[in-house]
Amino acid sequence: MDVHVVRRENRELYADLIERQFRIRHQIYVVERKWTELERPDGREIDQFDTDDTVYLIGLQNGEIVAGMRMVPTTSPTLLSDIFPQLALDSPVRRPDVYELSRIFVVPTKRGEHAGPRAEAVIQAAAMEYGLTIGLSAFTIVLETWWLPRLLDQGWRARPLGLPQDINGMSTTAVLVDVDDESWLEICARRAVPGPALLWQGLDGIDRNPLPNIMELA
Ligand code: COA
Repeated sequence: MDVHVVRRENRELYADLIERQFRIRHQIYVVERKWTELERPDGREIDQFDTDDTVYLIGLQNGEIVAGMRMVPTTSPTLLSDIFPQLALDSPVRRPDVYELSRIFVVPTKRGEHAGPRAEAVIQAAAMEYGLTIGLSAFTIVLETWWLPRLLDQGWRARPLGLPQDINGMSTTAVLVDVDDESWLEICARRAVPGPALLWQGLDGIDRNPLPNIMELA
């Protein structure tokens, strides 16, 4: 799976793919997960956090979207600041070096174990790779609490920002996840992700930090 970085600067190249992503998100979040408050008459799942500042990671196999997520700068409105502020004991994080991850998905046919690394692990390793490459120090995530042990088990350090709360019948927590070399190397090692996955088409002008040597895994 290749994971494409889509940002303001290269979004025109990906206009069709972004639209397909909104329709897949509808299928997953509105139809499958039944988050019906997200339903829109045009069959796209898109909200106020899908803006020009939003960065998308889109995982493609043979031209088909198999996984994705979005990243929203915490200097802009986020799920945590505007929808679920009760999940943070202190005021929500607002820092240029911290992005909020959300809408992390894998299409149903690619979930669970398959030949090769799990799509879920590749898209999350790609998020860590993106953070390291552009110099972030952390991610915030509003997540259903069942996901927290899975984050820890893939070698990420996630600190709760507040206490879990029941939201629409689901225990939900906000966490701050460190972005650092070790977290990327650990998820690669523990989940058999072979190394960098990101494609930066049309983003030659973006300053990028080098990644740690994946051979450190050996
Ligand atoms: N509630 C509780 N547990 C869940 C869950 C849910 N809604 N969705 C997945 N899980 C658990 C599964 O039970 C499974 O546990 P198991 O391995 O012990 O059986 C585990 O997480 C793995 O989930 P699975 O769906 O098999 O595959 P995956 O690891 O390839 O993908 C997701 C995980 C979350 C990416 C995928 O299930 C998905 O895209 N779900 C829809 C989108 C979503 O809900 N995203 C999270 C909120 S943004």
